[in-house]
Amino acid sequence: MSTSLRTAAAVCLIAAFTLSAAAQDFTAQPGLPAAAFPKPDRPVADIVSPLWDDEKARDDAGEPRELVRQLGIKPGMAVADIGAGSGYYVVRLSPIVGPKGRVFAEDVMPDYLQGLRKRVRDLGLRNVTVTQGEPHDPRLPAGSLDAAILVHMYHEITQPYALLYNLVPAFKPGARVGIIDAFRQTAEHGTPPELLRCELEAVGYRQISFDRLTASGAYLAIFAPPPIAGRPRPDAMVACKAR
Ligand SMILES: C[S@@+](CC[C@H](N)C(=O)[O-])C[C@H]1O[C@@H](n2cnc3c(N)ncnc32)[C@H](O)[C@@H]1O
Repeated sequence: MSTSLRTAAAVCLIAAFTLSAAAQDFTAQPGLPAAAFPKPDRPVADIVSPLWDDEKARDDAGEPRELVRQLGIKPGMAVADIGAGSGYYVVRLSPIVGPKGRVFAEDVMPDYLQGLRKRVRDLGLRNVTVTQGEPHDPRLPAGSLDAAILVHMYHEITQPYALLYNLVPAFKPGARVGIIDAFRQTAEHGTPPELLRCELEAVGYRQISFDRLTASGAYLAIFAPPPIAGRPRPDAMVACKAR
């Protein structure tokens, strides 16, 4: 084989390995592209950190206990932590869903995912799948989820309508979505509750409950996702305005 042929073969092999490694970051086929959806008609906060607050302070405020109770998270369930960051919820949900359950720990930041993979490995959490998503598409396996949580991250989603739409096929019938965020404007790393509700309803989600988490100064909103065929057409969606 000539040197140039050998070089071309090596380049092809490297490209193939790179592509297959990248493809393995995602656990499911892509949904619809971001361009098919309206952009949010309000500011989107920058991604600044993989953790919302000091873990001990959050434990003291009892936020996970309330989320687990209201979503009815039990052994054997599969739960997606969307925007898992450094894994505050991942390490708390893993023992609750147990060996027959699964936690899909999803994020869009490769550096954060690397740190999270190490944390999961060091703790020996065998029921956790750490997985990369895209800002408009969490790329989670179809029909896999009993629940999804989005904690202190909704205001950072650059394409909320697309993400919520592309998330729907991942749910099992009867699944629930729990969203925790602060009572602040999106530019200030919170989401006004009426804006959240409007954006979710635009994609066909229905709010089931809304509670103030007094100790943490945030709120927990629970939604039922629409069936796949019950989603509005992306080109018919109208972006909600922040008041
Ligand atoms: C403030 S951190 C919160 C992390 C974790 N949920 C917690 O409560 O500690 C926000 C996380 O959301 C992630 N994020 C932002 N936009 C996202 C998107 N469209 N899809 C998935 N994760 C996203 C960020 O990379 C970051 O890890």
